Amino acid sequence: MRGFPSGAVTFLFSDIEGSTRLVKALRERYPQVLAEHRRLVRAAIAGQGGHEVDTQGDAFFVAFAGAKQAVLCALEIQRALAGYEWPAGAPVRVRIGIHTGNAIPDEGVYTGLAVHRAARICAVARGGQVLVSQATQTIIEDEEEEEPGFTLLDLGERKLKDLDRPVRPFQLAAPGLDTRAPPAGQRAGGPARDMPAAPRGAEPGAFAAAATRALPRDIASFTGRQAGLAQLIGTLAAAAVGGEVAGLCAIDGMAGIGKTALAVHAAHQLACDFPHGQFFLPLHAHTAGQQPVNPTDALASLLLTAHVAAPQIPPGLEARAGRWRDLVAGKKVLLVLDDAATHEQVQPLLPGTAGSLVLVTSRRRLTALADAAVVSLDILPRRTADQDPA
Ligand SMILES: Nc1ncnc2c1ncn2[C@@H]1O[C@H](COP(=O)(O)OP(=O)(O)O)[C@@H](O)[C@H]1O
Ligand SMILES: [Mg+2]
Repeated sequence: MRGFPSGAVTFLFSDIEGSTRLVKALRERYPQVLAEHRRLVRAAIAGQGGHEVDTQGDAFFVAFAGAKQAVLCALEIQRALAGYEWPAGAPVRVRIGIHTGNAIPDEGVYTGLAVHRAARICAVARGGQVLVSQATQTIIEDEEEEEPGFTLLDLGERKLKDLDRPVRPFQLAAPGLDTRAPPAGQRAGGPARDMPAAPRGAEPGAFAAAATRALPRDIASFTGRQAGLAQLIGTLAAAAVGGEVAGLCAIDGMAGIGKTALAVHAAHQLACDFPHGQFFLPLHAHTAGQQPVNPTDALASLLLTAHVAAPQIPPGLEARAGRWRDLVAGKKVLLVLDDAATHEQVQPLLPGTAGSLVLVTSRRRLTALADAAVVSLDILPRRTADQDPA
């Protein structure tokens, strides 16, 4: 068919995450929501010169002559969907997969392995996420553009079902992408995958009302730190989600090197994987005029942030630690402990069960923290090195 690119074609697949739940939640309003979603996706496709090959239900299959156009289209789609006011409790979140390979359209139909690969990559993405194959990433990297407006984070090699050889997906990272906490009002029972169900037997107030979302603002100008980010996002989060104990990562480096920035940036990227709450607790190892927070007080802060009413917070370290562990037991919680002084300060705050991830930042390498993955930060090559330490 005329207009369809051939040769090195970049394929984009998208589909709505949890669409069955969405249909059930919205009932007769679903067709309208689907139509709105299609309108937003098509506007992004048109904006980047994409060719819509096929649309089925809530899925799109698009071909692009250029790899960067496909990635920019994905970015536009995610931003448009994230910024749209969906009916309460029914946000539309799409997963997107992109891959470049040789293909020739035959009467508007592409067949072959490249199409298959692109579809598989889409299938493993989560809602709000864009995964790009290494083939596409290499093309974009070779274009060597200074400020493409996005970053592709290496998630490491993985074997995908139905594919002959492993793929190495890269995650698209850019301001406004997959970092937004779902707006209030999307509660348990709603279709959004990333909203927690109210735990059975939980007392009112504790987690039941809404998951804590207490991460500080990410920096829009975040740059570099590819290796550290890839380790945090790819390996550690996967290990935490599928592991047998809570994941633990200690980020160390000198003052002002970017520990807090990295931990907060990674935490925003990971928020969806830890739907029962995202906590940020400054431990003030090096805050002028302030003593490091003692663990008993730190636990009180965490419990308060998790909506436990003050009178229900027990006195004493052991009782508070027990209460905290009980609260997060079996949950998927992300905890950033910023500027820790010692491992003794951190230890009582750690969840006791698998499924959660703790990111600790410290000027010291906390070697006594058992099983912690260590990310040691060096000075960034340029640009960020001249900024003021926080
Ligand atoms: N990767 C980065 N990209 C852009 N700015 C950064 C980055 N890392 C750190 N910064 C900036 O550098 C300053 C110091 O970073 P910060 O994370 O507070 O350092 P630390 O926690 O190691 O003391 C902050 O103003 C922060 O916004
Ligand atoms: Mg800091």
